[in-house]
Amino acid sequence: MVGQIIGGDYGEIWIRQRSDAMVEIGELLIANDFLLQVFDLEYGSLLEPRDLARMSGMQLEGMGAVNVKEKNIRNYILVKAKPVFDLKNKTLPKALPGFFNILRNVKEEDFKFLKKDDSGIYLGKVRSGSKVLNIPLYLEGKEVLRHHILIPATTGRGKSNLMKVMLWSLIGKNYAGILVLDAHNEYYSYTKNAKKYGLKEHPDAKNNVMYYTPNPQGEGYTLKINIQNVRPHHLKEIMEFTSAQEDAMYLAYREWKSKWIEEILKGNIPRGITNEVTMAVLQRKIQVALELVVSESGDIIPQGNIFSAGDVGKRTIKDIVEQLDDGKIIILDTSTMSKDLEILIASMIMSEIFEKHKRCKEGRANNCIFEELPVVSVVLEEAPRVLGGDKSNIFKTIAREGRKFNVGMIAITQLPSMIPREIMANLNTKLILGNETKGERDAIISSAPQDLTKDSKMIASLEKGEAIVSSIFTKFAVPVKIDLFEDVVDESRHLTEENRKRERIKPLF
Ligand SMILES: Nc1ncnc2c1ncn2[C@@H]1O[C@H](COP(=O)(O)OP(=O)(O)O)[C@@H](O)[C@H]1O
Ligand SMILES: [Mg+2]
Repeated sequence: MVGQIIGGDYGEIWIRQRSDAMVEIGELLIANDFLLQVFDLEYGSLLEPRDLARMSGMQLEGMGAVNVKEKNIRNYILVKAKPVFDLKNKTLPKALPGFFNILRNVKEEDFKFLKKDDSGIYLGKVRSGSKVLNIPLYLEGKEVLRHHILIPATTGRGKSNLMKVMLWSLIGKNYAGILVLDAHNEYYSYTKNAKKYGLKEHPDAKNNVMYYTPNPQGEGYTLKINIQNVRPHHLKEIMEFTSAQEDAMYLAYREWKSKWIEEILKGNIPRGITNEVTMAVLQRKIQVALELVVSESGDIIPQGNIFSAGDVGKRTIKDIVEQLDDGKIIILDTSTMSKDLEILIASMIMSEIFEKHKRCKEGRANNCIFEELPVVSVVLEEAPRVLGGDKSNIFKTIAREGRKFNVGMIAITQLPSMIPREIMANLNTKLILGNETKGERDAIISSAPQDLTKDSKMIASLEKGEAIVSSIFTKFAVPVKIDLFEDVVDESRHLTEENRKRERIKPLF
């Protein structure tokens, strides 16, 4: 017994806290069959404010403490809660719990309605305020990914950790292929406290997690991309071109197909273009974007470590696309490249996936059954750099129509307010971590699938790894404590070890 309902209305139920209870903001409470969540706490007293001030004055000024008779009855804490779920009807509550109802803490049995579906995406355990319950929370994988995910939070609140936990649970489940642009090279493998961590440590990683890096040192595939795979629209995603330059690119592509960049760099002019200045500017722009130079003798010499000429790297994009459509997790180490190149590579891969899925669904592709394709999702850090602004690009297209073709995105950002409202509304699952900026919280709240208008304080007070899952696929905004990734890895190692022991002591007959 933690308190009793003494008033309020549907959106704000007032509860008098029992004097020895200690209710927290964000805590879940049960009144009959209603699940309530605390969103605010306040002092309450039966004494007049003037009397309280006088009594306090006497104590502070050394006139002796005033003994308030029946202190625990006259002074109390007022808890404000909102109904979040009707446990009996399994719906949003449409009525109020009875007046004067006594409240209790939640128990694990109260959450039987959350199905444990370990084919889904694992996030962590349900929490009530800061108390973690032993109820694992899974999201329905394919649907959730197809309808996009947003992970908004200030730096250091656990976005990357959450992403690693989610990816770990998707390894070996072939219904989802995920492309991760890893700008900090923190997903595949790293060492902490002299122990190895990262997705590589998963027992099924070998065939299901592919790591691409510009300079593999005994590990992973080489991330080199041949310039013949670059199309005019790819360059448009990262650069501004005048319409004359754009025309020149398309004419060059029409004439020379995959050799269009080489021909332009060699100084050839496509039919239909007369302005040599345009070509010279275009040449320079392409050289800069793709980090190439042309030698005196007309050879193309790569300067950066991603784009290659000749025969190197011709299959990279194709391989990645195939692996994604095989339900694998692809990690691209983009830590050594510019933000522009990172976006360029991601858009090359994702446009290919989008087109492929679209052709397949519309029956324009051979050997392809749409229902058998996995959902393919791309993890984008600093998402506003591609989702903000008004230039169209493949990522906005995915946000708007990807779900029809099983192509999704997981947008990670510190600045959700920079993502246009209409795109925010398309990100149907929000994994909300802590955020101390009110403007950012408002952007999240105003686009959340559940009514979170009272939850601003609660979101501000979330600790590292504490999240609220607001999704069209959850019945209410579920508070959850995300597992610490290193614990997940340790746990898995422990289980593998136990299994091995059991194997060893198995009797021979
Ligand atoms: N779920 C969690 N439980 C406990 N600690 C966490 C959790 N998530 C993150 N942390 C801690 O916070 C640090 C920062 O997390 P990180 O995921 O890198 O944040 P972000 O990507 O949002 O900047 C981690 O190194 C870890 O120590
Ligand atoms: Mg991070």
